[in-house]
Amino acid sequence: MSYVINDEVLNEIRDKAEIVDLISEYVDLKKSGSNYMGLCPFHSEKTPSFSVSQSKGIFHCFGCGVGGDQITFIMKRENLGFRESIEFLADKYNIVLQENTNVNKEITDKKNRAYSANKEAAKFYFNNLRKSKNAYNYLLRRNIDHKTITRFAIGYAPDSWDSLYKYLKGLGYKDEELEEFNLITKTKNGNYIDRFRNRIIFPIINYKSKVIGFGGRVLDDSLPKYLNTRDTIVFNKGKNLYNLNLVSKESNRKKIILVEGYMDVISLYKSGINYSVASLGTALTEDQAELIKRYGEEVYICYDGDSAGIRATKRAIDVLISKNISPKIVNLKEGLDPDDYIEKYGKFNFEVELKEGLNYLDYKIVKIKENYNLETSEGLSKFTSEAAKVLAGVKNPIEQDVYIDKVARKYNVSKDAITSYISILNKNNKFKFKNISQEKDKEIITKIDKNFIEARQKAELQIIKYALYSEQNYEAIYEYIKPHEFKSINCRIIFEELTEIYNAHEDAKNILDNLKEKKLIDDLFIKELKYADIDIYNSEAVIKELISTIIKDELEENRNKILIEIKSLDKDNLSQEEILRLKELIEKLNELNTKLKISQ
Ligand code: UTP
Ligand code: MN
Repeated sequence: MSYVINDEVLNEIRDKAEIVDLISEYVDLKKSGSNYMGLCPFHSEKTPSFSVSQSKGIFHCFGCGVGGDQITFIMKRENLGFRESIEFLADKYNIVLQENTNVNKEITDKKNRAYSANKEAAKFYFNNLRKSKNAYNYLLRRNIDHKTITRFAIGYAPDSWDSLYKYLKGLGYKDEELEEFNLITKTKNGNYIDRFRNRIIFPIINYKSKVIGFGGRVLDDSLPKYLNTRDTIVFNKGKNLYNLNLVSKESNRKKIILVEGYMDVISLYKSGINYSVASLGTALTEDQAELIKRYGEEVYICYDGDSAGIRATKRAIDVLISKNISPKIVNLKEGLDPDDYIEKYGKFNFEVELKEGLNYLDYKIVKIKENYNLETSEGLSKFTSEAAKVLAGVKNPIEQDVYIDKVARKYNVSKDAITSYISILNKNNKFKFKNISQEKDKEIITKIDKNFIEARQKAELQIIKYALYSEQNYEAIYEYIKPHEFKSINCRIIFEELTEIYNAHEDAKNILDNLKEKKLIDDLFIKELKYADIDIYNSEAVIKELISTIIKDELEENRNKILIEIKSLDKDNLSQEEILRLKELIEKLNELNTKLKISQ
């Protein structure tokens, strides 16, 4: 939904969302003179340099230079878009936002009809669950209690041809729209029947708490086991995840577990693990990976242990890696899915499994192992040489040793054999696998590369100029860079507004003046943008170059963060936990180095 965002709304938000109050929820603030000070939430520091001015309604960090108002604080802290932040604050401070009636009214209206029809349908299913002993008992048999049923709004589609159809018709919905929202389908004879019949219903709710679609499960062994809503005006399977609504509100966003099915999410939630999402029966898409990145720092894949699940895991790893996420993989024993596992072994054991989640490297070795029979000498030697290849990629000798030890013990292969394979590989690949020079790392840690930061800022500014120039340019950029990936808040706001405008098939020519009027972007920045130094004859090539600068900077930044943490672990007597963390960091570093191709 699109809302009117004008001075009035912005002023109301800036008034009601008292800045010291708001930021105190995230930062421990202490009064200091006329301002409040605390530790900056946007960079790590030991002495407070983050200051909030109550009278001016702004924050500023003297350490890292970030600053802004309530809205930009939420954009940065909650990693939300500009419009999303406004909605977030409006929700929090009970500010009523008005729908934007100009923007593509027809589409907005239809979407709202779909949301409301879906909501009514969900209520209908929910109320019907209590009326069906059969359905209710099915859930009880699967240990789903009343509280969980309510939390997930689980329902039941009655065993009848058209009860939902009749119900929604009674509420004034028309045949065509209900068909379009995929709540009913037309038969050959031209009659309408309910899409879901005699099925347990799992409403799919987005992060804005709108019901966008449904999954329906049979109560017996008939097929298809699950039926889902087709893609509609408000539902796109590949762009959503099941349980995002609760994850976005309830989880602490540290961890997020990707599972296959509705029941996995529900079982985990019931046991107290409120941070799992399901990919809605499709192979993980890049859009879903983006969502995952937004809602959790550490990503776990915990698909079913069957062969389909393993294939899906491999694919999901690739998709996540392509989005710069290094997932951990949880292989549940006995081929169980998370639901069955929780039923059988409980939450505690599941959490142990999570803790023992394999990182990318371990998973590779496990998969190699599956190709060979380690009982035979031939299998054992092939396994050893392939595992050694993977281990040779571990650059830090201590870490490599920890790994070699682990593999040797776990698979009962000789440590010496692995080591000698590795040394052979190292000799052969002396030039290929050169270690990253430690001096260079230190340099990067101590001297933050000013040129690079400037390059990123310049690139963002330039790319926005191109995006403003034509929709075609905008599309080319959007494919690689999403609004929240802009570092400059100004650029982010503009790119987000452009997205909004182009999605609504509108003209973007007044965008800068509008943003200026609303005081969302300062004049200086607009002046800068209007300085037309873009090369319209080569825009495609220039845009590509700019995109790569930005992506490279993003990688560099991740790399710097990792190097700093590695440096902090550079001491004697590391605990077991620290050793594991170090190992993990070094792995991530290697991945990033490969992506940045600086290890050669
Ligand atoms: P599973 O077959 O693993 O089902 O499908 P499940 O999650 O273990 O469900 P229960 O425990 O038998 O009830 C995993 C997911 O794949 C999608 C659904 O999203 C399901 O949750 N799926 C599966 C379908 O969309 N259609 C199907 O026919 C089967
Ligand atoms: Mn299951």
